Amino acid sequence: MTQTHPTFAEKLIAWQKQHGRHNLAWQVSDPYQIWLSEIMLQQTQVVTVSEYFPRFIEKFPTVQDLANAEQDEVLALWQGLGYYSRARNLHFAAQQICHDFGGVFPENRESLQQLKGVGRSTAAAIAAFAFGKRETILDGNVKRILCRIFALDGEGKAFENQLWDFAEILLPENSSEMSAYTQGLMDLGATVCQRKPNCAICPMADICQAKQQDRIAELPRKKSVKVQEMTLYWLILRDKNRIFLQKRPQKGIWAGLYCVPCFENGADFHNYLRDKQMDFDDLHECATISHRLTHRVLEIIPYECDCKNAAFSANFNENDGIWVDLTDLPQYGLPKPLQQYLA
Ligand code: ADE
Repeated sequence: MTQTHPTFAEKLIAWQKQHGRHNLAWQVSDPYQIWLSEIMLQQTQVVTVSEYFPRFIEKFPTVQDLANAEQDEVLALWQGLGYYSRARNLHFAAQQICHDFGGVFPENRESLQQLKGVGRSTAAAIAAFAFGKRETILDGNVKRILCRIFALDGEGKAFENQLWDFAEILLPENSSEMSAYTQGLMDLGATVCQRKPNCAICPMADICQAKQQDRIAELPRKKSVKVQEMTLYWLILRDKNRIFLQKRPQKGIWAGLYCVPCFENGADFHNYLRDKQMDFDDLHECATISHRLTHRVLEIIPYECDCKNAAFSANFNENDGIWVDLTDLPQYGLPKPLQQYLA
C-alpha cells in the first residue's frame, strides 16, 4: 500500500491544532471583532493588542457604536498603539459598513477590500476566519515562511504576485479548515519561523528548502529602506496646570491627534512667536528628543514657556488651539513622544 505525503496545508493544520494559539480574545465568530483585531494586529504585537482589544470592544461593542462615535474618542482609545491612520480608517470603514453595506460585513474578500484600511491580506484573514473563505493571507510573516520553506528568492512587484499565486495553491481543499490553516500561518511565523527561527520545533523542518540549502539567513531577501531625518520644534506652553494643544491636520505626521504647536523649520517657528508677541528669549530650550517613525527619524527640540511668569496665555486662544488641564490629557489622543515627554 502506498502512503502519500501530507500536504503543506495538512501539516500546518495538524500542527496548529496541537501547538498553535487558541485562547486569543479575537478568536470569535463576530466579523466586527475579527476585523478590529486584524487592523490592530497589522503593526502591533499580540501582547499589546490583548490589552487594547477588550477595552475597544467594551466601549464600542458593535460596528454601529463605532460608526456613531466622534473621531477624537476613537483616537483617544487608540493612543499608544501608534500608526494612527489605522484608527482614522477604522472609524471611516465602520461608517462604510453602516452606510454602504447595510450594517452587515460582506463575506467575500473583494468586497472587504473596499473598506478603508483593509488590504488584500487583511481582507483574506477576515474572509477566512469569519466566513471560512478559501483566501490566502500574505503578510510579512507569511512571506518569510514561504520564501524559506520553498527557497523562493526575488523582489519587486512581479515576485510579490508570484508569492500570492503560490500561497493560493497551498490552501487546504476544505473550507472548514480555513481558520486553523490561517491561524497556523500566523502562529508559525510568530512563534517558530521568526527572523531567527527555532527549526528544532518546526513542523516543516523536514521539507524546508532553506534549511536543506543552509540559506536561512539569506531568505527572505531583505529590501533596503531609506530613512529620512527631520527636525521638529515644539512649543510647550504651560499655564499653571494647563497646557496648550492644537489638533493636527488630517494628513501627515500624527494626523488628527492633539499636539503642542509644532514647526518643521525655524522660520515658521519664529513667525508664529512674532505673531504672538513672543520671542526666543521668553523660552527655554529643553533636551532634544529622538523618535523613530517607520521611515523617518525625528529630532524634536522642545521649547518650554511658563505663561504664568509672563502674560502670554491670552495670546493663545481658541483661534488656534485649546488649553487642556493636565488631568484631562487621557481624553486626548497625543503622539507617543509627547505623551512620554509630559509623563
Ligand atoms: N497577526 C495578525 N492577525 C493575527 C491573529 N488573528 N492572531 C495572531 N496574530 C495575528
